[in-house]
Formats: sequence, structure tokens, C-alpha cells
Amino acid sequence: MGQVTVIINNRDLLEWPKQMCADIERMTGLHEIIIVDNGSSNRQLLQWYKDCKYKVVFLDNLGHTAPWDCGLTGRIETDLYVVTDPDLDLSGVPENALIHMANILYKNPALGKVGLLLETNGIPPASPYFDHVNNYEKSILSSGTVDNLYINAPVDTTFAIYDRRILNKYQICGVRTLAPYMAKHIPWHVIEPEGEFKYYLDNASSKSSSYKWFTKYESEGPLRKLYREHKVGKVSSKWSSYFPIYDKWFAPYREQSIKMLEIGVQNGGSLEMWARYFKQAETIVGCDVNPAVANLVYQDPRVKVVVGAASQQPAFDVINAHGAGGFDLIIDDGSHRSIDTISNFLMFFPMIKPGGLFVIEDMHCAYWPEYEGGYFNQRSMASFFKAMVDLVNIEHCRNDFSAQQLFQTFFTNTRVPDIFTNGSIAGVTAYNSVYVIEKSTETFKPFCGDVIIAGDDSTIEPRAVGKSR
Ligand SMILES: C[S@@+](CC[C@H](N)C(=O)[O-])C[C@H]1O[C@@H](n2cnc3c(N)ncnc32)[C@H](O)[C@@H]1O
Repeated sequence: MGQVTVIINNRDLLEWPKQMCADIERMTGLHEIIIVDNGSSNRQLLQWYKDCKYKVVFLDNLGHTAPWDCGLTGRIETDLYVVTDPDLDLSGVPENALIHMANILYKNPALGKVGLLLETNGIPPASPYFDHVNNYEKSILSSGTVDNLYINAPVDTTFAIYDRRILNKYQICGVRTLAPYMAKHIPWHVIEPEGEFKYYLDNASSKSSSYKWFTKYESEGPLRKLYREHKVGKVSSKWSSYFPIYDKWFAPYREQSIKMLEIGVQNGGSLEMWARYFKQAETIVGCDVNPAVANLVYQDPRVKVVVGAASQQPAFDVINAHGAGGFDLIIDDGSHRSIDTISNFLMFFPMIKPGGLFVIEDMHCAYWPEYEGGYFNQRSMASFFKAMVDLVNIEHCRNDFSAQQLFQTFFTNTRVPDIFTNGSIAGVTAYNSVYVIEKSTETFKPFCGDVIIAGDDSTIEPRAVGKSR
């Protein structure tokens, strides 16, 4: 029996830590391997825990400091222990690594801990870590070696040996061994997460996953996947935060024979994307003021391109003809100037079918003067849509407050359009840079309706029964 307990701190990963166990098993000086599990839900991993010969400590998700936080390092049978993340390739690490690291610590207890060196060469240029490893990780290794044994470079939760009589808590400190006592940090080599690593990322918080935090990784929905896979074809670019918003709102439309309009075509890529995303769509219309878009060619006959300023008559008429019977979905990704965005909304919202959506992209332009915006600009598109939040609640405004008063800065000398008085705007949802405006249906309107009372026991607040405004 050796003198070193190795603790692998894991969550949801199976293949990497399983291989690590095999590599650690061949190391001399090993006492036992213990796996700390942080609330995993990966079913194959949970089954392996049942079948494997290792002790597994099941915890809620305590994160990277779990082995200390749960008190395990104080309970194990040896004073010497290793704590490691589960994402290392140890196949090239010599069999005497535990002894070698223990000896360095034994001779230099003030170091606190001794970690394995991480391989910094051979990171694929497409890796999100490429710059970080080449600029930062390599630089911290440049401080020179000591006694031809180690380098003064601090260690986090990468494979490192501790003596609990000296240091028995998590602390970024210590030194790293020299080659060949060197491991590969597998996530540095991952360009596109897949399989169980993707599963892990999809279920980990940014706080507990350095990869997720570092790469700003987001769980990939169907639209984001389409964009990622669209390597060849017309260009489209959208902010990453838009994808989950669109997946959420557009999901019901994906299997329907919809008509949609996107104002703003540019290189034409988004129309290609919508055609793939809405496989059952009947018509996908794009409109752009740039005459060059007339040259865009689409193999998919459902895609129609209209040239002209969307809210100006000639283009408007053509769009109207394509959208006969009403659009289910309209996205305004046009000029993002307040005047155009407001005009587009006023012109096209009436064309939307009951229950349909009007989506406005890049609403951040509402805060920029060069787009006729500004926080204090009462005629900006942000002010316009904020007034709509009041509009859907107007029945609660006492003293006969009217839509005309709400939109007085926009319609000084004219009557407000009917859409503001006929209850056709059911709701306004504002996200960072994206607004979604829903059109009412017979059963979904911007009115509170009757109070519905369920139950017959109101001992706490009897007035709750039949409460009126
Ligand atoms: C942000 S780009 C559109 C990008 C495209 N939707 C995508 O996701 O790839 C904006 C486009 O709107 C067009 N545009 C500007 N004003 C417009 C207007 N009034 N009507 C229609 N298109 C307009 C511009 O010519 C430009 O090509």
C-alpha cells in the first residue's frame, strides 16, 4: 500500500476520469483513488460508479473546492494526498510521479503543494484557449527552474500533491514539476465541445466550469447550431444572446406553414438560415433598401427578396402581396434608426396574424444619438416601445388616461393608429437588444378580464373572495 490518496473531483464526466484512474493505478506510491462527485446526472457515469472499484463520495455540487469543503481530506487514511480535476490526460506521466512530487514537497515543505506541469505546446490554433495558453500559461512558466526539479508557477486544482499536516485547504500556490512529469489539460485542445463534455457544459454553471466561463460557452439550441454549421453560403451575423430568445419564441412556429418577413437582408445569410430553421414555412420574405440584394440567388423557392425601403410604398406593396393572409412572424433587422423602426412597426404590425410576433433586433441602437436614440430622447424607439408597456396596462390608469396621451410625442397632430386603441397589442417583452411584441388573439388580449376564484377556504383574508378593483 502506498502513501498517497488521489482524489478526483468530478461532475458529469466519465471517459476522461475513467482513463485517469487507469493511468493513476500504474503509479507507484498510490494508496487509493477516491472520486468526489458533485451532483452528476450523467446516467452512464452513475452506473459506472456502481460498477467501479473506487470509493465515490456523493455530494451536491460544491464545485472545485469540494474535496476540502466536505471534510474529506481530513478523513482519508494518508497525510499525503493529491486533488485533481477530472480533465487531464496523464498517459505520458511517468509511473514514479507521485513519489517524485512527494519528494519535492518533503524537501521543500514551504512550497505548500507541488503540481504537475501542463503541456502548453500543440494547442490547436482554433482552440478558444490558444491565445491564453500562448500568452499567459507560457509566460508563467518562464520564471526559471529550481534545482532542475520544479518551476515557480502556482497551481489551482490541477493534479497537485499536498501534505495535510502542512496545507489542508484550497489555495492557489506552489510549484510545478518539469517535463516529463507533465499532463495534458484536455479542454485546451477542444475546439467544439461534444459528447459528455458538452453534456457537462450544458449542465454546469459558469462559476464552476472554467471552460464555460473562459469561452462564454452557451448551451447550443437549434438556431445557434444552424449558424455554427453554416460554414459555406451567404453570410449572416447575429449576437449570440439572440439565439436562445429566438428558440424560445419561435419553437411553436417551426413545424407550421408560416409566412415570415425579415426587414434587412444584407448578405442574405439569415434568409438561408430561416429557410432551414422553419422547414415547413410557406414564404420567407426579405426586404432590403440596398439594390444589390436583387443579385442574391436562392435555390429555395420559398425565399423572396424585395428591394426598397420597407416602409415606403413600392416595397411595402410587394411585401403586402407576398404576405397575403398575414405574416406569422416579422423581424426588423433593418436600419435600427428610431424613425425607420417605428415606421416599420406602424406599417407592418397590422399585417401580422392574430397571435403572431413582431421582433426588433439591435434595440441597443435606441440609446445612441446617431440612430436617433438616447436615454432621454422622448422620440426614440425605446421611448415608443416603453409607452407600449403602459398601453397594455392602460385599463388600470385612472382618470380616463388615453392612448393618445401616451403616444403624444409621436402623434402630436394626428390621431393615434388603431392598433393602439383596439387592443391588438397583447404584450411587449424586452430583452437586451431584442424586443418581442405579441399580437392579441380572441382569447389572449391586453385586458385583465374577470377574477377567477378557486377554492372555498379564505380564513386568512376573507376579502380575497370577490375582490374588485
Ligand atoms: C444588419 S443588416 C441585416 C442583416 C441580416 N438580417 C442578417 O442577419 O444577416 C441591415 C440591413 O438593413 C438594410 N436596411 C437599412 N434600412 C432599410 C430599410 N429602410 N428598409 C429595408 N432595409 C433596410 C441595410 O441595407 C442592411 O443591409
